[in-house]
Amino acid sequence: MRVVVGVGGGIAAYKSCSLIRSFTENGHHVRVVPTESALEFVGRATFEALSGSPVHTGVFADVPEVPHVRLGQEADLVVVAPATADLLARLAGGRADDLLSATLLTARCPVLLAPAMHTEMWEHPATAANVDTLRSRGVVVLEPASGRLTGRDTGSGRLPEPDEIFGLAMLLVERADALPRDLVGRKVVVTAGGTREPLDPVRFLGNRSSGKQGYALARVAAQRGADVTLIAGFTTELPDPAAVDVVHVKTAQQMQTAVRKFAPEADAIVMAAAVADFRPATIAGSKIKKGANEPDSIPLVRNDDILAGLVDARRSGSIETSTVIVGFAAETGDEHGDVLTYARAKLARKGCDLLVVNAVGDGKAFEVDHNNGWLLGSDGSESALGEGSKALLAGRVLDAVVAVLDSTSNQQ
Ligand code: CTP
Repeated sequence: MRVVVGVGGGIAAYKSCSLIRSFTENGHHVRVVPTESALEFVGRATFEALSGSPVHTGVFADVPEVPHVRLGQEADLVVVAPATADLLARLAGGRADDLLSATLLTARCPVLLAPAMHTEMWEHPATAANVDTLRSRGVVVLEPASGRLTGRDTGSGRLPEPDEIFGLAMLLVERADALPRDLVGRKVVVTAGGTREPLDPVRFLGNRSSGKQGYALARVAAQRGADVTLIAGFTTELPDPAAVDVVHVKTAQQMQTAVRKFAPEADAIVMAAAVADFRPATIAGSKIKKGANEPDSIPLVRNDDILAGLVDARRSGSIETSTVIVGFAAETGDEHGDVLTYARAKLARKGCDLLVVNAVGDGKAFEVDHNNGWLLGSDGSESALGEGSKALLAGRVLDAVVAVLDSTSNQQ
């Protein structure tokens, strides 16, 4: 695939180096097109070495090759990271006064801009209007992350992590319309990862959930405009997704408390977490030792089913009746029934609106970047989610959530 990585003139330009590497390491052909001011932050030689191709900023280099037209025309994907306030303004205005802006005018492939700037600049009405203009033309403008900016400031305007930009860019290659702004104004709660139920100060009962699917759901929902709260258990050290409020919890009971806190405000709740069904009945105050006092067995007690509790809360009116509730099921099937038979029974038992079903076992689903499965609806609908990245599947699940939300809004 031919990828153009545009780099604007901001301190986050150094992070574009990791992004360029991700593309080249995955076998893609990269042309880096920095602005002149980006070269104040990262030298041309770095970009040329990382991409293995010449780097120009103006339209008068290599004139016989006509790069100001060719690069954009031939690209399969254009990613700009960081996109500064000035660059967004130039692109919204349709300028073609350097190689990067000319490339963006000629590109007909998916275009993803990852803004990074100080919070005041990001929140300025001029920038907001430029972002709206670009989005209305089909350009994907990512929500920036919050957190530490250059100097002492913190706030919205940080460049999302290069891995996250890479994942979202590849999502656009899988599906060009994967990031519509159809969740603006919606509050979405997502749970992810596994809970750990302590046994003593050093041991716990846990599970193999990586959290990747839940994190992908939170990330994609946020980039589709939702106000997202991610209630995260243990994961394989995933970084917090950009533009998502993350609440870290450890046990099933803590997850339940957090879900109950955020559920009344939510338009949709997606229970992707692998919540432990049982916990040790007592937590030993000191490490359980071998020897005379060692326990013969460890009694367990049932944790509440958080998902079923949400459905009950909706029935009793303590959360909105319009709240869309999504459950997950990991099934293996056995001699009494296949994966879908068990999943249909689980959907009916749990009473949620949508159930995402994954076939597990033999290295499927857990700890991998790809996933596949089915989506069952309480209206009897069943669709295959198909093979794809966890981000792509997240998008398909969110499409179904949007469809339920829209049908409920239309009924009101
Ligand atoms: N879940 C939950 N609270 C629990 C256990 C599970 O909210 N204490 C949610 C999960 O987040 C998931 C769904 O329920 O969305 C399905 O979980 P699963 O463990 O597969 O369901 P179980 O009812 O425990 O079914 P099984 O008998 O197959 O274990």
